[in-house]
Amino acid sequence: PGTSEVLTTEISAESTGQTISREVIILYGSQTGNAQRLAENAGKALEGNGFQVIVSSMSDFKANHLKKAQNLLIIVSTHGEGEPPDNALSFHEFLHGRRAPKLDGLRFSVLSLGDSSYEFFCQTGKEFDQRLEELGATRLYPRVDCDLDYDEPASEWLAGVYGGLSEAQQGGGATPAPATALQVSESVYSRTNPFKAEVLENLNLNGRGSNKETRHLELSLEGSGLTFEPGDILGVYPENEPALVDMFLEEMNWDPEELVTINKQGGVRPLKEALVSHFEITVLTKPLLEQAVQLSANKDLRELLSPDNEENLKAYLEGRDLLDLVRDFGPWRVSAQAFISILRKMPARLYSIASSLSANPDEVHLTIGAVRYDAHGRKRKGVCSCLCAERLQPGDTLPVYIQPNQNFKLPKNPDTPIIMVGPGTGIAPFRSFMQEREEIGAEGKSWLFFGDQHYVTDFLYQTEWQKWLKEGVLTKMDVAFSRDTDEKVYVQHRMLEHSKELFEWIQEGAVVYICGDKKNMAYDVHNTLLAIIEKEGSMSREKAEDYLADMQQQKRYQRDVY
Ligand code: 2AM
Repeated sequence: PGTSEVLTTEISAESTGQTISREVIILYGSQTGNAQRLAENAGKALEGNGFQVIVSSMSDFKANHLKKAQNLLIIVSTHGEGEPPDNALSFHEFLHGRRAPKLDGLRFSVLSLGDSSYEFFCQTGKEFDQRLEELGATRLYPRVDCDLDYDEPASEWLAGVYGGLSEAQQGGGATPAPATALQVSESVYSRTNPFKAEVLENLNLNGRGSNKETRHLELSLEGSGLTFEPGDILGVYPENEPALVDMFLEEMNWDPEELVTINKQGGVRPLKEALVSHFEITVLTKPLLEQAVQLSANKDLRELLSPDNEENLKAYLEGRDLLDLVRDFGPWRVSAQAFISILRKMPARLYSIASSLSANPDEVHLTIGAVRYDAHGRKRKGVCSCLCAERLQPGDTLPVYIQPNQNFKLPKNPDTPIIMVGPGTGIAPFRSFMQEREEIGAEGKSWLFFGDQHYVTDFLYQTEWQKWLKEGVLTKMDVAFSRDTDEKVYVQHRMLEHSKELFEWIQEGAVVYICGDKKNMAYDVHNTLLAIIEKEGSMSREKAEDYLADMQQQKRYQRDVY
């Protein structure tokens, strides 16, 4: 559905038929995609219940076709000071103009989306609702106005609409129970039921000769119903490296094809697949060793777990994996099934999303630093990051889910200035912020502090940042390349160099964001912020701490650190 050509033929063909009142037109006006998704899902739900549904953007719909229509559903959001979304503008204007048709034969209902913290809450939906009535149309179900959390009211609206449509069809009487669930939003995918997202792109962002490898991943969310906002997080279920699993299987002398039960629901998989996809094999924990010791007669392992060996145990766990464990503490006379039952389920890895849904509909982008190091005489690899760096190809799929992050959000007001500090992969959410602000035409100032090792090889998304700077989407950018000069320069040094202006921005109400390394960077940047507030605000250290704590309280200081 979508184009007006399709609509013309479908409508004229239908208008001669008997089942005309089973035809429903759903028009949406959507800025960020929520109304569109609701419209598409409502369309599917009604189709599943035997209605003939056409779903279209208001901008793709020939308004004159309304004269022939029987049932019209409008799903529309409201923006700013009560403005319609861009793709609703012309339709809205047409309906409100003098050339608008009489709509006596039309039955309709409106679902409006909005934000009740704005004065003109759901204004556009209200206007459509009132205007359709003025033009002679009758309501088949009363308008529902939704606040930010629209899932429930939208589902209730759809149930009501379904009742209204069915009643009209039957000429009164009881509404038949829906054959297909009238679900409008709420993706069925979640942490426990991840969506298999297809890999669209997988690139190395670093140049040749870099010490680093940072992958840029583009995944498709098409058909998932998953949505997110800038600042949100993507959970990814990775696979273990097959070569590592092979070494482990060899060590244990197990048949890779042996079938094992992998969960309480009784799911069965070949052993190798189970170890690749379903269990954590790269991290050792104390509880794991306590269970492992039950499966081994090894005296050293028992010794390591004795209460007076606490420190040695900690040291042993650090940086070792399951292969180390089975090599160090054999012999193991245990079945594969018994052994895997002590393993933890593969945990998801969490990444700050690097794209905006309005700029890249149906996609999610990630910025992932490949983790590789030597430990205990063997090369070690980050499970998810090295899967992305070494094996994941376009066309492959990755199980993912969205983890909303309320603690890292763009200010609601697009005029609010923002200061973004994101060295290394900490840059990710800020790319999402800029995409979003560009897309909505935000006017607030923005300032990026980025750092990495070398300008030539490590300036992540360099051309995008330079384009945004040139176009004024980004107001200021300061970069610190730590290994291009004899003395290390970090983002906080750049912040200090601009301390006066930075404090001015803060006093103008800027929100300060920090993303990236927690242990060193975020700590140092935090102290630098304190020093800047202390100096430029002529405050004591204590006052500066209160000031920053207040900012944090007001969500004007937000961190996404790991
Ligand atoms: P370095 O590795 O050269 O020391 C992204 O990884 C960038 O953050 C690199 O330039 C890295 O510098 C830098 N970095 C390391 N420690 C930091 C810290 N404590 N504060 C700010 N940046 C830091």
